[in-house]
Amino acid sequence: MAMEAEAAPLIERLGFSKVETDEPQLPFLAYETQFGELELSLVINGKDRRFGVESVGTQPATLATFWAIKRYNPELILNAGTCGAFISKGSDIADVYISESFRFHDRRISIPGYQAYGYGDYPAHTFTEMAEELGLKYATVSTGNSLDMCDTDMEIIDSLPVAVKEMEAAAIAWVAEQYGTPLVALKSVTDLVDGGKLAQEEFVENLGKASRALTEKTVSFLEALQKINAAET
Ligand code: ADE
Repeated sequence: MAMEAEAAPLIERLGFSKVETDEPQLPFLAYETQFGELELSLVINGKDRRFGVESVGTQPATLATFWAIKRYNPELILNAGTCGAFISKGSDIADVYISESFRFHDRRISIPGYQAYGYGDYPAHTFTEMAEELGLKYATVSTGNSLDMCDTDMEIIDSLPVAVKEMEAAAIAWVAEQYGTPLVALKSVTDLVDGGKLAQEEFVENLGKASRALTEKTVSFLEALQKINAAET
């Protein structure tokens, strides 16, 4: 997860305990808990030491994912977080989406061969039956390093049937792809990009509500995952 504020209700609900990270130079925070048969490890990007704010964006997400894979060798990565979404695509505040795929919208490289690399288009591990059962809508998770959006970003995102906009998932997906680790994301809507309000104001206003909705769906997701695991073993 990127932000402590997004993770706080989940930490409380699942009784996560904080552990040392063995990387004191990096701001990452790590928590562990047992959830039935599942061993859960939660890695949060942590606060930037110089700027005092949460380390959102692709660089911390990339490095935290690398570290988490090395430390935990996970069977599945779940990137849980918040996102911006679009009224024109049927979204509302605190709707929770499950990833269909991951891509970047701000890596535009019009050199032959580089365009597809720039956008990425990384696969998401699919949970079709579970998504239906839990009432999760599918979306392409589109990643960029800005909270706001220029017209070109808008054009690119608008060409996708259903998309949400956030700042980490495609970077995590790139690392997951290198290691062959399955990845799924749950993203809860804090702001409606085409709703006429400023993203930063709407984000702050709805962060608590969206994080609580994210916690509910994440817990339901983990319960369903546990059932699948139990049926397989
Ligand atoms: N996270 C939450 N809302 C966002 C937005 N509008 N853009 C990028 N990341 C976000």
